[in-house]
Amino acid sequence: MIVVTGATGNVGHALVTQLTAAQIPVRALTRDPGRARLPEGAEVARFDPAAEPADLAPLFDGAFALFLHMAAVGEHTDAVLAAARKGGVQHVVVLSSGIIEDGADKTHPIYVAHADLEQRVRESGLGWTFLRPNAFAANSLQWADQIRAGDIVRGPFAGALTAPIHEADIAAVAARAFLDDGHRGAVHRLTGPAAVSTEEQIHTIGQALGRDLRFVEVPPEEVTADMFPHVPAGMLPAILESFAETVGVTPEISSTVESVTGTPARTFSEWTQGHKNDLGLRPP
Ligand SMILES: NC(=O)c1ccc[n+]([C@@H]2O[C@H](COP(=O)([O-])OP(=O)(O)OC[C@H]3O[C@@H](n4cnc5c(N)ncnc54)[C@H](OP(=O)(O)O)[C@@H]3O)[C@@H](O)[C@H]2O)c1
Repeated sequence: MIVVTGATGNVGHALVTQLTAAQIPVRALTRDPGRARLPEGAEVARFDPAAEPADLAPLFDGAFALFLHMAAVGEHTDAVLAAARKGGVQHVVVLSSGIIEDGADKTHPIYVAHADLEQRVRESGLGWTFLRPNAFAANSLQWADQIRAGDIVRGPFAGALTAPIHEADIAAVAARAFLDDGHRGAVHRLTGPAAVSTEEQIHTIGQALGRDLRFVEVPPEEVTADMFPHVPAGMLPAILESFAETVGVTPEISSTVESVTGTPARTFSEWTQGHKNDLGLRPP
């Protein structure tokens, strides 16, 4: 049994989908099983990371592994890891962040949060694998409301370059880390296969939707929080500063998705094709 936190989210849902398709027993944790739309083969369990140890314990019955999502466990990482270890879990695959690398700004709030998460896992006594993805393709869902409303998308840094990674590729690496030998103590840096600018992302989404979308750059000081709904409150200024540094700069491109899974990382265009409804498909 593999326990998945963040199971209704981008990566977690993809992971639950892949594991159930492979007939691997999965327990998918969510705050609200009634709203979770998870694959039939998954056991869905209500999760309150602040619960007493006695209430966390059953979540790990029969489990040998845990997928750890930072936001889903919040301030309760240690308690969740302790319950997992007590329940027989031996291996944790952590959804960390590519921000953790040599030369990183160690005061950046996203660095601080993920470095703390990794440290707690290291100290837990459990075996671990750290996944350090860079920008998610799913971040472009931030434009969905604007795309539904019209053909102009306003945002900062038209020329910001990332190599957006498909959540299914992060999930596929996580699945291999659980199921194959050789991933304990490994750190996997994960990216998509190619650099795509913000402006190109909007153009690619337009092609997928059959719409002539246009990106209009706004200065960073005009950015509002609703343009970045996936960014935790308070982290937007730091994110915008990091973003500014990516304008015109070739991003890291890693081959780890292919080397671990045997399949090349999916392109941003493939991602948009699979997310047309999420992106605001509407009649022309
Ligand atoms: N976005 C990026 O570019 C990027 C880059 C590198 C690393 N990351 C890492 O990946 C994570 C995002 O992964 P994702 O996109 O798969 O996650 P997600 O879709 O945003 O959320 C996953 C699930 O976690 C639960 N959750 C989310 N926020 C919560 C909160 N504040 N309190 C309690 N539960 C919460 C929710 O499940 P329920 O409602 O069902 O409980 C949600 O469906 C980031 O937090 C970061 O650690 C992201």
